[in-house]
Amino acid sequence: MSESSGFKIIAVDGGAATGKSSTSRAIAERLKLMHVDTGAHYRTLTYALLNAGADSAAPNAIPALLESLQLDTTIQGRSALLSINGHVPADAQIRSPEVNAKVSKFAALESVREFLFQYQRSQAQVARDLAEFTGLIMEGRDIGSIIFPNADFRFFLFADEATRAARRSNDGQTDSIAERDKRDSQRKTAPLVCPEGAIRVDTGPLPLESVVEHICAIITA
Ligand code: DC
Repeated sequence: MSESSGFKIIAVDGGAATGKSSTSRAIAERLKLMHVDTGAHYRTLTYALLNAGADSAAPNAIPALLESLQLDTTIQGRSALLSINGHVPADAQIRSPEVNAKVSKFAALESVREFLFQYQRSQAQVARDLAEFTGLIMEGRDIGSIIFPNADFRFFLFADEATRAARRSNDGQTDSIAERDKRDSQRKTAPLVCPEGAIRVDTGPLPLESVVEHICAIITA
């Protein structure tokens, strides 16, 4: 479909604090793409589940809680945000130390991943239906491997640990990124991997503008 309509799907994967969000947002702005941060999906869902009293160590209770949650999309600028039961939580709520500590545990549960799978795929149609977007850029851990394995472009971002830790503390966040990456890479369902054939980009030594420039040049070549 993308060949005939020009509509492009771009998948961006990588570990925590590798620059996925800043890079994807800037590319969305430049190329008029709809930006979807699937890490924010898992964070928003974790926040809602914690509020409902869920415990990732007691997964049997989670499917019933998920049934009470209605997912929808709110467009804000170039970003498509997940709303749950009509509510988009504030950034501070989904990036709190508590959510940072719990999100990869909930994200490892099959019921949680299944719950978001169709919703995340459906975002391509949301972008197609809105004339202001020429495509979709979706970032996460399993976008090029599971959600859009046939994306027009698949990128995998990485960076050295010192740079990533410095980025998180510059954001003012408490976050054990190495621990989260380990959990995300070792889980059974949809682990963090560099999808086969993805273009690897080392964001450690490069300023944001250079990463954006590099990726945009590949997409528009
Ligand atoms: O991108 P982020 O650091 O905000 O993501 C938060 C967590 O969500 C991450 O530790 C693992 C999970 N996640 C996932 O399992 N799959 C995705 N596609 C995106 C995020």
